Amino acid sequence: MSNHHQSVMFDESIKGLNITENGTYIDATFGRGGHTQGILDKLGTSGKVIAFDQDLSAIEYGKAHIKDKRLHLIHSDFANMQQALESEQLSGKINGILLDLGVSSPQLDDAQRGFSFNNDGPLDMRMNQTRGMSAAQWLAGADESEIANVIYEFGEEKKSRHIASAIKRYQQNRPIETTLQLANIIASVVRTKNKHPATRSFQAIRIFINQELEQLQQTLKQSLTLLAPDAILCVISFHSIEDRIVKQFIRQYAKPKALLKGLPVMGDNTQTMPLKDLGRQFASEVEININKRSRSAILRLARRTSKAYGDELA
Ligand SMILES: C[S@@+](CC[C@H](N)C(=O)[O-])C[C@H]1O[C@@H](n2cnc3c(N)ncnc32)[C@H](O)[C@@H]1O
Repeated sequence: MSNHHQSVMFDESIKGLNITENGTYIDATFGRGGHTQGILDKLGTSGKVIAFDQDLSAIEYGKAHIKDKRLHLIHSDFANMQQALESEQLSGKINGILLDLGVSSPQLDDAQRGFSFNNDGPLDMRMNQTRGMSAAQWLAGADESEIANVIYEFGEEKKSRHIASAIKRYQQNRPIETTLQLANIIASVVRTKNKHPATRSFQAIRIFINQELEQLQQTLKQSLTLLAPDAILCVISFHSIEDRIVKQFIRQYAKPKALLKGLPVMGDNTQTMPLKDLGRQFASEVEININKRSRSAILRLARRTSKAYGDELA
């Protein structure tokens, strides 16, 4: 199994984070540490990267391969970041937060993790294998309409009802335990031109099993408390459902007169917009040609503001 992950939109994200030499940064999705290393390379001796990953194998890889005192690795969901950092009193002191969402190449390539519809393996799909239900366990217990709803909502799959019905028919004879069993059931009722017929359904089940959207929403909110004035939020997402959440979050908090309820007040004014929307970017043609995965990447940047909303509008 390869341990390699090609970091997506590396230059754009490192530039976008606008790294200050002795700042403290959070890489919420360590993966194989490509972005973390990029941040470390720009930091001075008192800089720091706090990196999270809910996958133990990512953290173990980091401990074995990046020996740098400025790196703190934490095995945890990123939605737990505020709580994990509570004792360090870092609220309002983080200079940048990066989220590079989704799964890493090693997770996809290792058939035993159950994310791949091309390689047969146990139907697991948990990024954090130390807790929660595997996809096989969920499919065994869920009823037809629940399966259809998940596949429709998180995969935007029009054939969701046909797929759910095919799954339930199959389960009358035997359980679904492997990725290829599920992929073949889906392929028996879905026809596609360019993508594998199971692409949308696998994405949907993965999002559901890992509670990806809830985790993202909670973390975006926490970023408002953690980020210092002028600090950067950088999010790379890989499908429209995820990107919509990021876009709406930034727009909501970049609106003039956004309410500051529950957020620390920066400076002495009470009419601060918590965020300034710095827009979105896509991967370059050059990158897309080298790394197919970057094709669907959307990078969004926002700056935590400390100014009065009138100043920000100017
Ligand atoms: C696309 S990879 C990140 C790759 C990384 N930027 C690099 O350059 O190597 C996403 C990583 O985020 C982790 N991840 C996804 N959702 C998470 C969550 N809610 N909490 C913590 N880690 C998460 C996955 O386990 C995976 O290792």
